[in-house]
Amino acid sequence: MQEQAAKIRIDELREILRENSRRYYVDNAPTMSDYEFDQLMHELERLEAEFPQFDSPDSPTRRVGSDLDTPVGANAESQARQGFVQRPHRYPMLSLGNTYSIGEIEEFVARAEKTLEGVRFSYSCELKFDGTAICLTYRNGRLAQALTRGDGVQGDDVTENVRRIANIPQQLKGDYPPDFEIRGEILMPYAAFDALNREREAQEEAPFANPRNAAAGSLKLIDPEEVAHRGLICTLYHVPAESVDFASHSEALDAAARWGLPVSEERRLCHDIGEIKAYIDHWDQARKFLPYATDGIVIKINELAAQRTLGYTAKSPRWAVAYKFKAEQACTELLSIDYQVGRTGAVTPVANLAPVQLSGTLVKRATLNNADQMALLDIRVGDWVYVEKGGEIIPKITGIDPAHRTKGAKPPVFPSVCPDCGTPLVKAEAEAKWFCPNQDGCPMQIKGRLLHFVSRKAMDILAGDMTVEQFFATGLARTPADLYDISKYQLLSLEGWQDKAAERFLASLEASKQVPFERVLFALGIRYVGETTAKGIARHFGDIDTLAAATQEQLLEIDDVGEVIARSVVDFFAKPEHLEMIARLRAAGLRFDGAGQESALSDALAGKTIVISGNFSISRERMKELITAHGGKAGSSVSGSTAFLLAGTKPGPEKLKKCEKLGIPVISEDDFRAMLPEEPDRQGPSEAVHPDRVGRAKRSPIAEEGPLPVGSNIEELTLF
Ligand code: IVH
Repeated sequence: MQEQAAKIRIDELREILRENSRRYYVDNAPTMSDYEFDQLMHELERLEAEFPQFDSPDSPTRRVGSDLDTPVGANAESQARQGFVQRPHRYPMLSLGNTYSIGEIEEFVARAEKTLEGVRFSYSCELKFDGTAICLTYRNGRLAQALTRGDGVQGDDVTENVRRIANIPQQLKGDYPPDFEIRGEILMPYAAFDALNREREAQEEAPFANPRNAAAGSLKLIDPEEVAHRGLICTLYHVPAESVDFASHSEALDAAARWGLPVSEERRLCHDIGEIKAYIDHWDQARKFLPYATDGIVIKINELAAQRTLGYTAKSPRWAVAYKFKAEQACTELLSIDYQVGRTGAVTPVANLAPVQLSGTLVKRATLNNADQMALLDIRVGDWVYVEKGGEIIPKITGIDPAHRTKGAKPPVFPSVCPDCGTPLVKAEAEAKWFCPNQDGCPMQIKGRLLHFVSRKAMDILAGDMTVEQFFATGLARTPADLYDISKYQLLSLEGWQDKAAERFLASLEASKQVPFERVLFALGIRYVGETTAKGIARHFGDIDTLAAATQEQLLEIDDVGEVIARSVVDFFAKPEHLEMIARLRAAGLRFDGAGQESALSDALAGKTIVISGNFSISRERMKELITAHGGKAGSSVSGSTAFLLAGTKPGPEKLKKCEKLGIPVISEDDFRAMLPEEPDRQGPSEAVHPDRVGRAKRSPIAEEGPLPVGSNIEELTLF
């Protein structure tokens, strides 16, 4: 390759890899498969080796992917927003060289044998766990600190979250060293992952792409109590050699297991390439039956003296390598295509497949996303299609086998009318999905809205699919407000209802009247308003009347509310039938105000809209919570109605200028704190408004809800 062409490609690859690394580690929403990513990284490595004149210390080949919100030092405001304190690693947290080729494993072994000629050594073969890396510090036997890998040099302090992971001991036993580090992986087992995604899909929240993203996202939740419910587990696989005094890796891990730490049990010591290959072959199959995701095998030189001889590159040890498995695929026949209508009217094509075994589960259905995707695949009923799972809950169709096509098979016709109610479908230009516009008459949409309203995270009313179906079929309920008019007499007249069931249902209906406003708002099922957005909106406006009167601009003042959500909210309240339903629900006794009052600390800031800018002694999110907890409102832009600008270090110059122009006072953090009543514990407001009590400070770095990406395949998909 010409030098100039190489430079262009190198720059291009660095950019692609940086962008995808951010999507993988920070957003937990990768858009490229691991395999594609690794191939591009290997191409860059080859080019950099061939053209060393283009070396750069910033190249992705020299840096480990960072899970920090921003590169260190790049943007302090964004770091504060992240909500986790960043702390340095005692020893850098490196990555592993990887390959998909057995030939390269043979080369690794040959190289090690050559370098270590005359030295007796062995290989520790282990599973490569597909989760998110963690570094634990134990002092005097007690868990003292847990850091994410971050950028390898410093990581996010997630200690409080890690304390909620069931198999991580708080206290060790036996002859543990007084102060040491141990590293491993936080994993979300498939069962927990499936349950979490089912819940998220029922709530129209974006499901996690795979257990790895789910584990990484869950570890960075702001509320440790929520972490406790995510079903995470930990497996440990590395004690930095500097941290303890052992002769080999396996001895260190065996000791750690004796101290009560969860150490990987699938490790084997191998002595030559034959044993290594046997280990790989075994786990290539056996891993399909493990309860958690693995994406390869790690081969490490076991003796620490030998490890020292081999040393490190900038990014990874020379004494270890990962052999990665390719994502599993299956090929099966497409039997038919269903078109599902969700509660917002979106129509999703779903493929019915001849059942096929894939990653330990029997796959019968797969999403086809939308009409464009079907056209792109050029798919026909009767085709043999490739399905991939790679840990995702909803298998994807990734391609077709053209050799298998039946002659004369015609392309499927996407319905022009709603498969449920027959109304002609519509499609907005910017959307990839077709919609049934018959919101008030389409049975699927009506039932979907009722189901959403009664769901656990919404009003938590004891009614499932069957009950909703019954209510709909008998005409007892078409809108949520109808539910509150149902009498015991009416229930008992329905098939299969006994006295006890009726009472339990009515009691849950009664209890729902205590559900806080933010959940009621979520239950209304406004498009794009998921749980977290509803919380933010409810807290911001306080009650439904203020919200109903809000303009798009006012809605946009809320963090994480963008144009799409704002428009959707305004449209919702513009419809007389929605206002009428709210009036009926209010008359039934549901709560439409009082958002955030349960956590009020004082009313020192009542009636004041305060805009904050810069960095404070606590995160910006916590600062906003502090304002609301004392009765104030946190605004995002300075306007005539701003009471004052609370300025930390490095406040935004634009905001300062605007304050000067409008004559709005600018107040320091100290002055602000002086306005608040004395706290019992002056330790800091982060204690006083611990998110456990005030609510989640910030959504996790993964997209929790909000506008679904155009063409998203997840909206209201009820596949299983
Ligand atoms: S050892 C200095 N062992 O894979 C080497 N890593 O792609 C430290 N991983 O960052 C890592 N299973 O998060 C090691 N058995 C295992 C592993 C493992 C999974 C992860 C780890 C690492 C990444 C590299």
